[in-house]
Amino acid sequence: MTETKIGVIGGSGLYEMPGLQNAEWITVDSPWGAPSDQLLTGVLDGVPMAFLPRHGRGHVHSPSTVPYRANIDALKRLGVTDVISVSACGSFREEMAPGDFVVVDQFIDRTFAREKSFFGTGCVAHVSVAHPVCSRLAAACAAAADTAGIRVHRGGTYLAMEGPQFSTRAESVMYRDVWRADVIGMTNMPEAKLAREAELCYASVAMITDYDSWHVGHGTVDLAEIIRILTGNARKGQEMVASLATALGSGRAPCPDGCDHALEGAILTAPDK
Ligand code: ADE
Repeated sequence: MTETKIGVIGGSGLYEMPGLQNAEWITVDSPWGAPSDQLLTGVLDGVPMAFLPRHGRGHVHSPSTVPYRANIDALKRLGVTDVISVSACGSFREEMAPGDFVVVDQFIDRTFAREKSFFGTGCVAHVSVAHPVCSRLAAACAAAADTAGIRVHRGGTYLAMEGPQFSTRAESVMYRDVWRADVIGMTNMPEAKLAREAELCYASVAMITDYDSWHVGHGTVDLAEIIRILTGNARKGQEMVASLATALGSGRAPCPDGCDHALEGAILTAPDK
């Protein structure tokens, strides 16, 4: 058994954690550049935690300029074992309604203007992301959301788009009807891939704020409405994280999916190079 340390990458409301003991904002340096912000560390129900505002306090990073590599590296350097991503998304399914949470299990990565790997020149590695989410952590997130009284959907395919503009109706209909995606957002990639390269367990909780632009019965995506729903969800998100800390506890068995040794057999470069 090792010690669990939960890292939460989230937005407003999720770094103000009621009950967080020894809370302290700390600066973490990374060779991959500066993370989005300082990290709020502390202990919740006996479990060490670190919260990182993905867009920075004051929302200074757009989805394309979030320093994804520095963020994952900072969490790794702090000893985080399990990363929970909390983010807003649009829905392609009538039954996945604004206000609901989706514990994502697959991704379609359509981002194109971001650094996506820790590996490249000097050291080459190819990790598998066939199953990009840790099944144990995802199940724990879904159970925690249930405990917090949140309407939660277990599983769903998240289409990660570059943004910052929202999709056209033609794109939205194609993602929904042809590609069979369930939700759409701008931030979970390359975050999920980098977490796998860093041998961290990763699960994503997507908070639905809108029906994107496919739904004839709803207007187009409206930022003010997204912010209204996100603000309304902040307390629910905090409650989910609190139940998750209680459920996971501080002792941690090795990851059943092998997320914590994902690099085994993945590095191509000779060790003496
Ligand atoms: N974030 C919240 N809603 C979204 C949408 N419809 N498309 C992309 N990102 C989103």
